[in-house]
Amino acid sequence: MVELAIKTSQLTKRFGDQAAVDGIDLSVPKGSVFGFLGPNGSGKTTTIRMLLGLAEATEGTIELLGEEVPKRIEQILPKVGALVEGPAFYPFMSGRNNLLRIDAADRFADQKTTEARVESALNRVGLANAAKKKVHAYSLGMKQRLGLANALLKPRELLILDEPTNGLDPQGTREVRNLIRSLADEGITVFVSSHLLSEIEMLCSHVAVMSAGKIVAQGKIEDLRNEEPTRLILATDEADAAIDVLKSEGLGKSRIRGLQIITEVENDFDVAKLAAVLVSKNIPIREIRLEKPSLEEKFVKLTGEGFEVVR
Ligand SMILES: Nc1ncnc2c1ncn2[C@@H]1O[C@H](COP(=O)(O)OP(=O)(O)OP(=O)(O)O)[C@@H](O)[C@H]1O
Ligand SMILES: [Mg+2]
Repeated sequence: MVELAIKTSQLTKRFGDQAAVDGIDLSVPKGSVFGFLGPNGSGKTTTIRMLLGLAEATEGTIELLGEEVPKRIEQILPKVGALVEGPAFYPFMSGRNNLLRIDAADRFADQKTTEARVESALNRVGLANAAKKKVHAYSLGMKQRLGLANALLKPRELLILDEPTNGLDPQGTREVRNLIRSLADEGITVFVSSHLLSEIEMLCSHVAVMSAGKIVAQGKIEDLRNEEPTRLILATDEADAAIDVLKSEGLGKSRIRGLQIITEVENDFDVAKLAAVLVSKNIPIREIRLEKPSLEEKFVKLTGEGFEVVR
């Protein structure tokens, strides 16, 4: 049995008669970097707020690190670092002083090490140079970094991050991604939401895809990708002869796209062997390769909506 850092069962949140989160079963393995992917309004933040005990579930159950939420939330929270939409900082105080204040108010924190921990958290998120600046003069990206620093004030077993790269420039996005990777390497489970598939693909081992409050796919990213059939792409000027060869090799129906013949094949299809057969029959090959449909195609199919892709 895989140990789970987060487990929800039929978790539901209704606002009036709208179900913002609609019966979701999340299974987040310990040690994973788990992407929580979904378009705007699909219920990511609402879910995260329930996980952290910030909002009450209408129905369903939650376990964080094996403990019941909200019943045991006080015992669990010291082990969980969180970044949720719009963290509240005092604008008239510097970034450093905000963190010092938060740590001072944390009765689980060791006050003897406060300053060292604040400095190290500021360093990790690249805010050391702006630490003395007042927060009202911070850019959105700098506030986001301060939110991350806040999540990192203490050693954690689990990090729950709601769109941590929101408002960051490409450089900042890369830095946050690297930071998350290095935290994961230390063995911390990271649950991170995003509406950007490309980001989740680059960062995560697992994903749950949300659409209108429901999970429409969940699991290892690799497994989800492998569920999609592999395609053989063959470009030739002798399409008819080539299709005869494909049939004689036991392949199914083909589609034609310009000069390309496109056929579904097994994942372990031997493309070199097919190339040799085609050559032996004097069929000229302009292009021959295998292609996996991108995860984006799969998710568009599942959610019926496009995900923004950053390039
Ligand atoms: N306090 C609230 N009262 C009423 N409706 C709400 C409330 N909070 C969220 N909702 C609704 O619940 C749905 C899910 O919102 P949520 O913020 O969880 O989405 P999200 O996936 O985090 O979106 P985004 O990518 O824009 O951050 C939306 O339709 C939203 O309008
Ligand atoms: Mg949100």
